Amino acid sequence: MSFLQLQQVGKTFEKGQKAAVHDMSLQLEKGEILTLLGPSGCGKTTTLRMIAGFEQPTEGTVKIGDQVVFANGKSIPPEKRGIGMVFQDYALFPHLNIEKNVMFGLNKWRVRERKKRAKEVLELVGLEDYAARFPNELSGGQQQRVALARALAPRPHVVLMDEPFSNLDAGLREKMRFEVTNILRKAETTGIIVTHDQKDAFAVSDRVVVMNEGEVQQIAAPKEMYRCPKNCFVAQFVGKTNLLDGEMCPDLKHVNTHIGKVSLPEQTSEIIEDVKVSIRPEGCRLAEQGMYSGHVEYVTYGGEFQELSVRLNNSGAEAEPMIIYAPIEQDVEVGAVVSFDITPELVALVD
Ligand SMILES: Nc1ncnc2c1ncn2[C@@H]1O[C@H](COP(=O)(O)OP(=O)(O)O)[C@@H](O)[C@H]1O
Ligand SMILES: [Mg+2]
Repeated sequence: MSFLQLQQVGKTFEKGQKAAVHDMSLQLEKGEILTLLGPSGCGKTTTLRMIAGFEQPTEGTVKIGDQVVFANGKSIPPEKRGIGMVFQDYALFPHLNIEKNVMFGLNKWRVRERKKRAKEVLELVGLEDYAARFPNELSGGQQQRVALARALAPRPHVVLMDEPFSNLDAGLREKMRFEVTNILRKAETTGIIVTHDQKDAFAVSDRVVVMNEGEVQQIAAPKEMYRCPKNCFVAQFVGKTNLLDGEMCPDLKHVNTHIGKVSLPEQTSEIIEDVKVSIRPEGCRLAEQGMYSGHVEYVTYGGEFQELSVRLNNSGAEAEPMIIYAPIEQDVEVGAVVSFDITPELVALVD
């Protein structure tokens, strides 16, 4: 039984315009953390706002728990949907202290219960000693934890977070990815997080929904998404890749490309002749007697690895060079001839 469900949800803001969200279906299990990932303008915030009830779909059905919250133009208001929202700018009340900020959504509770719950959620986010402070006396990461505590306080069915990490600098961002997931897991909350950053998405979620131009491209666990992207858009959006046109071999396990024969991780059932393969740069490993060889056109140092652009000996001058990641300790010079093998597990057929 899914806990949150979107069925063919669509949103067109103005008649005759392209839909901001089109035919969106997805299901969440209780306790699951899902991210909506995609470039700016692809419809992530609109989707989140339709789940929250701030925006009405023009098509489809939304269910939360066993309640239909939107169908056939009938909508349950946001405050009755059992959702907790964390906004991109946290939206804390500057004139209220942290405890009062957290108690904000509990106005129907008895005063003693309110105080007890505020203490509980502030402990959960590790800010029990900050109850009397004001938002401007806290760091960005702390403010975000307050916003999360406030969202969690009324025990919502689902917590929705829009770009929660975008206002944080790189170091804090990594720490908060870890903390936010930890807090959501401890609270056993179901969560949907919106981000345009693939690293955020992979680090925090059980499953990722990649969107483009209002449409779902693929829904998968991070590792599967990376290893088996469904199409060229997903392959390129979740990491660097080499996209090669090819012809399927009769054994359905190899593809002939301009660099030579490439092995697939397993035999495919797709009997299509003209195909495209995605080969991850880290799937190409330098080797003494590698199956493929070429000369290095440029080397870029990427910190934990170096990126090589290799022009293959057997492919024509107009063919794209291959991008390969090599370990940083290996000495590679521009112009050198290198050979490499390709790990089939990092090769995928894509649409
Ligand atoms: N209130 C609105 N009125 C008209 N168009 C809107 C409105 N909100 C969003 N859009 C449009 O819908 C599309 C998706 O926007 P949005 O959901 O904010 O994308 P994202 O959050 O992925 O960046 C964009 O083209 C945007 O311009
Ligand atoms: Mg947005």
